[in-house]
Amino acid sequence: MKNEAAFDVERIRQDFPILSTQMHGKPLVYLDNAATTQKPQPVIDTLVKYYTEQNANIHRSPHLLAEKATRAYEEARVKVKNFLNAADAHEIIFIRNATEGVNLVASTYGRANVGEGDEIIVSTMEHHCNIVPWQMLCEEKGATLKVIPINDAGELLMDEFDKLLSPRTKIVAIVHMSNVLGTINPVEDIIAKAHAQGVPVLIDAAQSAYHMTIDVQKMDADFLVLSGHKLYGPTGIGVLYGKTRLLDAMPPYQGGGDMIDTVTFEKTTYNELPYKFEAGTPHIEGAAGLGAAVDYITGIGMDAIAAYEHELMEYGTQVIGDVDGLTIIGTAANKASVFSFTLEDIHPLEIGTLLDREGIAIRTGQHCAHPVLKRLGVPSTARASLGMYNTRAEIDVFVDGLRKVQKFFGK
Ligand SMILES: Cc1ncc(COP(=O)(O)O)c(C=O)c1O
Repeated sequence: MKNEAAFDVERIRQDFPILSTQMHGKPLVYLDNAATTQKPQPVIDTLVKYYTEQNANIHRSPHLLAEKATRAYEEARVKVKNFLNAADAHEIIFIRNATEGVNLVASTYGRANVGEGDEIIVSTMEHHCNIVPWQMLCEEKGATLKVIPINDAGELLMDEFDKLLSPRTKIVAIVHMSNVLGTINPVEDIIAKAHAQGVPVLIDAAQSAYHMTIDVQKMDADFLVLSGHKLYGPTGIGVLYGKTRLLDAMPPYQGGGDMIDTVTFEKTTYNELPYKFEAGTPHIEGAAGLGAAVDYITGIGMDAIAAYEHELMEYGTQVIGDVDGLTIIGTAANKASVFSFTLEDIHPLEIGTLLDREGIAIRTGQHCAHPVLKRLGVPSTARASLGMYNTRAEIDVFVDGLRKVQKFFGK
């Protein structure tokens, strides 16, 4: 427990006002972090400050307020650049969420580079947002989606990946950490193999970004997407990272204000990076809030967060695994902070609903990832997922809750 003491989870919890609220008269035990995380006070304060002191449109008007808003937005970009260790702030494109990031890349890079007979590689464990945009592109272009299979523990079969990579492969799009299984994929290895064949790789870091340090240069990712709301930041703001060389060569995503250089009815020229991909008034306060979230995480230290969560996961794996009749879905050797499970023949929705009466928030269902559940032969699961503020005591409350659920069903 040395890390837990050094990490001071109780002090961190005090920064998250929602964690001291009650649900159905019971203290909230929030174990639905893979869906979205709660927000620390500095993020909330940043949003309030934005609307009380800084609100204006950006990149346009000559007044001081517009300068303050522009600064809040652009400073956030630099914070995210540092957080991901990107080479340049213009490689950070503000978007709505990870989903929009994949759609952006599929409909710009994809449309420009994928043709009939080409192939796109994804994996069995992708979130729908890293399947459907590629499927739509394949339908439009007459290309084919290839899928890296997994074993029963929920790990990629890397030998199969080797076989799928071919001169027809135009892009590999892969999740860093599965929202269903918790599996952490060997993305550096995947990227190195794809690059050896000249194929770019998009990493879906929606889950990994709030559990581990991400260094896009070390990873050598070509594109990486994440959502602010999972990173202890606001909803409606996300990030697409892309290498300058690729972003520069890509056509724009949406047309409109801010993304242009000059417009005539005969011809429009486009703005430089990153603005080429940020048409219209963006989520200014969302970006500022995301900047505050990144500052908050950096202040604690991502490595300290990862170490603490790892201990918590090991504890959880032991005590949750001890519940009679409970099966953990997703047992990869390298996994983080997610417990998907089934409990005898009790429907996951009933588990979730009964736990909710105890103040315990989990997710149930198919987790926007139908193919991986189909592969593992489970129609749906219940899922408890951890964040930096969860504790052993909360895991104990959760396990007690599971036993109450069993008792309710006479098990
Ligand atoms: C692995 C993964 N990728 C992508 C997403 C999509 O995130 P968003 O809905 O914020 O776009 C999620 C959301 O749960 C996810 O878990």
